[in-house]
Amino acid sequence: MPSKRLEGKTAIVTGASRGIGREIALLLAREGANLVLTARNLEALEALAAEIEQAGGVKPLCFSLDVKNAEKVEELADKTLDKYKRVDILVNNAGVTKDGLFVRMTESDWDEVLDTNLKGAFLCMRAVSKIMMKQRAGKIINIASVIGLVGNAGQANYAASKAGIIALTKSVAKELGSRNVLVNAVAPGFIETEMTQALAPEAKDKILKAIPVGFFGKPADVAQAVLFLASEESNFITGQVITVDGGMVML
Ligand SMILES: NC(=O)c1ccc[n+]([C@@H]2O[C@H](COP(=O)([O-])OP(=O)(O)OC[C@H]3O[C@@H](n4cnc5c(N)ncnc54)[C@H](O)[C@@H]3O)[C@@H](O)[C@H]2O)c1
Repeated sequence: MPSKRLEGKTAIVTGASRGIGREIALLLAREGANLVLTARNLEALEALAAEIEQAGGVKPLCFSLDVKNAEKVEELADKTLDKYKRVDILVNNAGVTKDGLFVRMTESDWDEVLDTNLKGAFLCMRAVSKIMMKQRAGKIINIASVIGLVGNAGQANYAASKAGIIALTKSVAKELGSRNVLVNAVAPGFIETEMTQALAPEAKDKILKAIPVGFFGKPADVAQAVLFLASEESNFITGQVITVDGGMVML
């Protein structure tokens, strides 16, 4: 039994430049994974890659990627295969918000959020699924949100994208289960990152009151759930959504 949980595995993480994606990358690297880091900001990725290497991890491959770009997504899958000969884990983490009241929501804010959060995940899943099906092994982990489970005023576009990711997760899990390609989602609640920094203090206070454990989550809390779903310990789990939210949403 290898001492590290992901020794020899190859993992692609989208939106790895900061926040939750960065923390996922650091944790998977600590567990021995060969990483392919992607985001639009190559400089930030290269800094993260250097940090991982200095900490004794395998030097990651950095790939500049806008997840909305189908051609680049296919190139990412090809480059990963060229370098590592396999793709064991895909973490679809890249995501954006463009909040606003529904009646005033612009078509461009709708498209930007749906294209990044949902179509981006679709493109990445489609590109790696072909490889994983041939390998007869693979783990896909989609970062959804509790907002995709319960909705939120002012986030119709974001909620629709995250509910879409959950339905996509379950559907693809049903299609690919027989090939041992397991597809699950992690639905974070309120996690302290740049995405949530912009919220007004009153809005944050209101959210805090709705969290039974009484504190906000950290990117590392989400990363631990991703590690579990990426590891051999979850080999009989597919089509599931794990909420990481301090008990905020219980269905
Ligand atoms: N922070 C939270 O409370 C929270 C809660 C629930 C879900 N999430 C989800 O977790 C994920 C990470 O969120 P975060 O809080 O770390 O946000 P963040 O804004 O700090 O990071 C988002 C990452 O996605 C990347 N990204 C955005 N658009 C992209 C595109 N078109 N192509 C490639 N990369 C792109 C960004 O560059 C960045 O690396 C998102 O999917 C988000 O919806 C976050």
